[in-house]
Amino acid sequence: MTSLNASASTDTGYESDRQLAEYAEFHFGDMVYGVPNFPKALAELAFAHMQDRPRRRALDLGCAVGRASFELARQFDSVDGVDFSHNFIRMATSMVDTGAVHYARVEEGDLVSDHTRTLESLGLSDSARKVGFYQGDACNLDTRFSDYDLVLAANLIDRLYRPRLFLDSIPARIREGGLLIIASPYTWMEEHTPKEEWIGGYWKDGRRYTTLDGLQNHLGGHFRLIDPPRKVPFVIRETQHKCQHSLSEVTVWERLPGPETDGQPAE
Ligand SMILES: C[S@@+](CC[C@H](N)C(=O)[O-])C[C@H]1O[C@@H](n2cnc3c(N)ncnc32)[C@H](O)[C@@H]1O
Repeated sequence: MTSLNASASTDTGYESDRQLAEYAEFHFGDMVYGVPNFPKALAELAFAHMQDRPRRRALDLGCAVGRASFELARQFDSVDGVDFSHNFIRMATSMVDTGAVHYARVEEGDLVSDHTRTLESLGLSDSARKVGFYQGDACNLDTRFSDYDLVLAANLIDRLYRPRLFLDSIPARIREGGLLIIASPYTWMEEHTPKEEWIGGYWKDGRRYTTLDGLQNHLGGHFRLIDPPRKVPFVIRETQHKCQHSLSEVTVWERLPGPETDGQPAE
């Protein structure tokens, strides 16, 4: 694991053992309610949109414990997974190093069941050598994270403390013709994002201003939306009796030629 950002010390709510086990199960565990694995579904959606674009470098921003990074490495030469959470990056790195992760899944109250998941059982053994995981901040990303053919930001923007910093700095990370895929259920919460930083989901000048409006506003100068938004379901299992079933809206953006950016977020 490499730590890249001294400012990334705030707990954004994804450091607990409980969150770690939930995300380990969400990414590497059993299917729930017949809903396909979400990170894998997004990687497949990315492959379909890449068409004849080069598949050299991909970035999985807010990668959590890394399933989408491993999936993207089926077709990309190299994949960087970046997340704020030290614990998530530690588990993702352990998957690279040992090919397995171990966690205790909550069944009910204090009752847990132990699980081991392996890259081999997921058909991902070849991916490990192509993937690197790094602790970092999407709102203040090191400049080494650049020159990507694809950036995936899955269920990330509504968890950022300043999503505009991410949106304004992302054009400089992506090669001309490359893709940015943003997936989000747009569940804005003030505990993650102060209201004045929300990208949408509020009234503006007497009309409904959606997150899609906000994304188009922020990204329009550098990207074009290449597909109508679509909703991809996901299920996060909390206990054997309780799951969150959500829909993430996916938008796919192609990086246009110029205008050049200095790689710094616009204030
Ligand atoms: C809702 S989870 C989604 C994780 C994963 N992409 C998925 O789809 O399962 C949000 C993730 O964003 C990460 N995160 C929150 N703020 C971040 C930031 N400023 N920079 C990078 N990652 C961040 C969290 O640690 C968490 O892993």
